[in-house]
Amino acid sequence: MIEIAPSILAADFSRLGQQVSDALACGVKRIHCDIMDGHFVPNISMGPAIVQSIKPFVAKAGAILESHLMIEEPERYIGDFVKAGADLVTVHVETCPHLHRTLQQIRELGAQVGVTLNPATPLVSLEEVLGDVDLILVMTVNPGFGGQEFIPETLEKIARLKEMLAKRKRAHVHIEVDGGVHTATIASVAKAGATIAVTGTAVFSNSASVAENIAALRKAAG
Ligand code: DX5
Ligand code: ZN
Repeated sequence: MIEIAPSILAADFSRLGQQVSDALACGVKRIHCDIMDGHFVPNISMGPAIVQSIKPFVAKAGAILESHLMIEEPERYIGDFVKAGADLVTVHVETCPHLHRTLQQIRELGAQVGVTLNPATPLVSLEEVLGDVDLILVMTVNPGFGGQEFIPETLEKIARLKEMLAKRKRAHVHIEVDGGVHTATIASVAKAGATIAVTGTAVFSNSASVAENIAALRKAAG
């Protein structure tokens, strides 16, 4: 069963603690924070203070707090996010000229290591670091906003990544997908090999409750 990782980007920030608690009450084991700087992506979202504010809820539930850094020069801020409570930090290959060193920096700070690539970035950019990561995040939209259309061409990329990991004896590395995952697309990403689905709009932004949305996603995942 694919894991659901609600993205708080789509949550109601006037009652963020309640929204996160509602998701955790459904047994989700990851909360995903989309960090955007308005430079690498055309949107500004949240910083370490938000991570710190939801950390008590996530820790109490024994869940993992993920920080997806869609920011330039992430190496300057990794320490702040780990200090704020991030259990896993994901950086974009496109923002890391010294990727190996940046991944080491995350590891040395005691956090789990994630690396992510945009839809147009080829898997070959990860070849030399498969041994240094716990999770690979495949963007299934162009980063910057929630509620975008899923890019179907990414399904084949997910399948190739699964093959690549198996060949390199790294089958335990999580394949997480992010963007446009909802009841109509979650089964296809699971089938392609994703083990975790980041879902923002599908969990927080519609008239149904968080619990109803998560149940619908789990049902649709098959
Ligand atoms: C894109 C963001 C979104 C968000 C989830 O930069 O990373 O993908 O997490 O978005 P939706 O609302 O499509 O699930
Ligand atoms: Zn994300």
